[in-house]
Parts: sequence; structure tokens; C-alpha cells
Amino acid sequence: MSDPSLNGLLETVWQHLARGTADRHHPARHPTLATLTPDGPDLRTLVLRAIDRAENTLEFHTDAASPKAAHIAGNPAIALHVWVPKARLQIRARGTARIAQGDPALFAQLPEQAQANYTGPTPGTPLPAKAAQTAPRFARLLCTLTEIDALTLSDPHQRALFQAADTWQGQWIAP
Ligand SMILES: Cc1cc2nc3c(=O)[nH]c(=O)nc-3n(C[C@H](O)[C@H](O)[C@H](O)COP(=O)(O)O)c2cc1C
Repeated sequence: MSDPSLNGLLETVWQHLARGTADRHHPARHPTLATLTPDGPDLRTLVLRAIDRAENTLEFHTDAASPKAAHIAGNPAIALHVWVPKARLQIRARGTARIAQGDPALFAQLPEQAQANYTGPTPGTPLPAKAAQTAPRFARLLCTLTEIDALTLSDPHQRALFQAADTWQGQWIAP
């Protein structure tokens, strides 16, 4: 981390997220997304497709009929986690998610097998499936962040909490 200021740390977080969208070997390529179900929390790995720093939004692709989409419909609260070993940086974020229609042009470019995932049995249903093929359920999952918690295992460890509510100025907190 080159800039040890609060703002520098927030910039570093967004730089790593940006790297995740562009570099498939970067750890931010695969955040863990937590959702809430009526029975408690659930977690899964997703591919980070895009970020919008101005809107504090992260974009993923998913199946509109997947359990996570139902969780978000029931309760939009989400959390995200990324651990970047080389930077010794843990990124935790909270916010809300929504499901939006996927881009048909993008869907058309997916490999056949990837397309099949969006028209066959819905994720989590028992196989072999009796269900017929459906129209593509290709969707965007958009997470709007309201809070970022960054922990660096520098010497000494440093941790900061950034919140949309205080215009992302952030404050140092005990690690
Ligand atoms: C490396 C990796 C990348 C994944 N990327 C995605 C993804 O971009 N979108 C997605 O919906 N599921 C992705 N999955 C599958 C999810 O982790 C999960 O198994 C699936 O979406 C069903 O989740 P749900 O039951 O919580 O809806 C990925 C899994 C792995 C291991």
C-alpha cells in the first residue's frame, strides 16, 4: 500500500476490485457473496464482472432463478469478502443487491455450455431433472455498497471502516 492515508486505503481497495474485473488470476476476480435466507446466511463464490466506482456498485452475472436471486428478493442485504494475499489485505463490504436483466448480446457471446447453464435445470435442483428447457435466465446481480471494511496486515495492522453515510471519509478502527 503506497499511500497510508484513509483515502489511500480506500483507493487501494477499489484498485484491487478493478484488477479483479480485468485479471482472472487476481483474487478479487472471485469475491465471496453472502446473502440472507429465512434460515440464516448463505455464501458462494462469484466472478466479478464490472465495477462502477461512482455508483459504488459491483456487477456479477447469475441465474435469475438461482437460490441467491430468491434470497435477494426476500432480503436485499448482502456482504462481500475478498482476501488479497500479496497485499495482505482483507476487503469486507456490505450493501444491498438487486437482480437486473442480463444483456442478450453478452449472453449470445457465451460458450454453448455456459449458455446451457441458463436454460437447463435451475441451480440447486436435484438431477436428473425432469424440467423442460426455459428461456435464458441470464441476469445481472448488482451490489451497491454502503460500507467497506479494509484490514491490512501491515506492521502494525491497520483497519479502517468506510461508509456511504459519512461520504466514504472513513475512520481508523481497532484491527
Ligand atoms: C470460481 C467460481 C466462480 C463462480 N462464478 C459464478 C458466477 O459468476 N455466477 C454465478 O451465479 N455462480 C458462480 N459460481 C457458482 C456459485 O458459487 C454457486 O454455486 C451457484 O451460483 C449457486 O449459488 P446459489 O445456490 O447461492 O444461488 C461460481 C463458482 C466458482 C467456484
